[in-house]
Amino acid sequence: MVNEKELLARLNWFYSLELNQVDLYTAQAHAMEDIYLAKTLARVAAIEQQHVDNMAAEIKKRGAEPTRLGDAVAPLLGKASGTVVGILGAKAVLKTNIALEKKAMKDYKDFISRVEDDSHLLNILWDNLIDEDLHTAWFTNKLKEF
Ligand SMILES: [Fe+2]
Ligand SMILES: [Fe+2]
Repeated sequence: MVNEKELLARLNWFYSLELNQVDLYTAQAHAMEDIYLAKTLARVAAIEQQHVDNMAAEIKKRGAEPTRLGDAVAPLLGKASGTVVGILGAKAVLKTNIALEKKAMKDYKDFISRVEDDSHLLNILWDNLIDEDLHTAWFTNKLKEF
């Protein structure tokens, strides 16, 4: 079980991670030539925005303000973080996104395993985790086309 301070720190981590996903996928959607990929990235960005909102609500419910932790995602992506689509193209975008989604899934699973007595929070974490799993599956399937 996590104490309140650690819980808030974890919620802020996900708040930041999800905000970065919204920014990244929105930028990718605008830069993508392939209409189906662009529309899907925009739709996935909208779902990531729901995750931002549900993490923000959990933080506020506990009397704290959602705080964006620097650039939480950049270290995960390394040099690819600044590259939206550009010269790397759809294949690199999909690979980057799969890595990001897998990191989010790993962290959600870990968080879920640490929360015991808050069924409302657990339901939200499970919802977000399953969304990330669906995104990973779509990106992975799409990658086969390239
Ligand atoms: Fe998400
Ligand atoms: Fe996702």
